[in-house]
Amino acid sequence: MAAFRWGILGPGTIAHKFADALAGAPDAVLHAVGSRDEDRAAAFAARHADRNPGRIRTYGDYEALAADPDLDAVYIATPHPMHAEHTQLCLERGIPVLVEKPMAIDAASERRMADTARRKGVFLMEAMWSRFLPATRLVRSLLDSGRIGEPRLVSADMCFSLRRDPAHRVYDPQLAGGGILDVGIYLMAFTSLVFGAHPLAADGYVHIGPTGVDEEAAVLLRYDGDKMASLCCAIRAFGANEGHILGTDGRIDLSPFWGAQSVRIADFGGEEVLACPFDINGFEYEIREAMDCIRGGRTESPELPLSESIAMMDILDGLRRKWGYRYPMEQ
Ligand SMILES: NC(=O)c1ccc[n+]([C@@H]2O[C@H](COP(=O)([O-])OP(=O)(O)OC[C@H]3O[C@@H](n4cnc5c(N)ncnc54)[C@H](OP(=O)(O)O)[C@@H]3O)[C@@H](O)[C@H]2O)c1
Repeated sequence: MAAFRWGILGPGTIAHKFADALAGAPDAVLHAVGSRDEDRAAAFAARHADRNPGRIRTYGDYEALAADPDLDAVYIATPHPMHAEHTQLCLERGIPVLVEKPMAIDAASERRMADTARRKGVFLMEAMWSRFLPATRLVRSLLDSGRIGEPRLVSADMCFSLRRDPAHRVYDPQLAGGGILDVGIYLMAFTSLVFGAHPLAADGYVHIGPTGVDEEAAVLLRYDGDKMASLCCAIRAFGANEGHILGTDGRIDLSPFWGAQSVRIADFGGEEVLACPFDINGFEYEIREAMDCIRGGRTESPELPLSESIAMMDILDGLRRKWGYRYPMEQ
């Protein structure tokens, strides 16, 4: 099989993890890197040169990367407010896209991205890496098999404490910082996996800190049949980062719920822990999913369709409307 040639647009912190994970995807190579700065692209390429046969092409602007005629897909790892523009840049050139979470800052932007992907007939997927992990796939099969009976409640938190620093992107409103988009989106994906993407109601509270971004939020979702989820996210609170699915006949525990390498099942018979280790660092599964879809001629992943990404963002948009919380770049 011919090598699958990835491009990286926005070689920042998380892009390194993606590049490391390419080693876990058969036939994947890092073909090109696009940065706003040629030297940064070159430095990134140099750091990943040993695992990528041949020279990694480097570009000093994103348009030049998107003009590379030999790309099989681009991974977009710029800050959230730029995801839409950079995705459109690649899609319009017919290049399949794996775009970091959150797919965009609001559902309206995500709908436009999805429209472009459909119009061009090109693959697009949100890089919600946790959705494709062995542990997540095991949870899905446990739920489908009825192992814990009827799931009634989900509780999860994704909270980390980062020193308040207005220069860091998560504290910067101009980069749509705050916990909701950075980590809250994982809570949506976890709950959506269990109950589906469309709650009947969503409510909650938020604390907006002095830099103007959400620092902590607590959310309740109610689903058909009075199933419920209780969720917290934070960028300035030290969390346990656990996820629990409570069913009528048992419980599933994940820790951390978005990157678990084991699944604990508790039921009337006792407890069992099933190991689900990563091959590399966890990103290899979303990479394989994207490659399988693209090679198979699919324009969306059946495991994370665009409609689900949009529905998850609709929930966060609705909460922000209730809270009167807008990002500066929203019209
Ligand atoms: N899946 C995960 O586990 C995970 C973890 C962390 C972050 N993320 C997501 O990945 C995205 C990037 O996060 P990160 O932590 O990697 O950010 P980062 O370290 O700041 O890197 C972002 C890169 O985007 C480029 N960029 C373009 N316009 C920019 C601007 N106006 N300001 C700053 N950088 C800009 C920069 O590269 P050049 O200037 O060199 O082009 C920068 O290195 C975010 O959307 C985040 O949600 C995902």
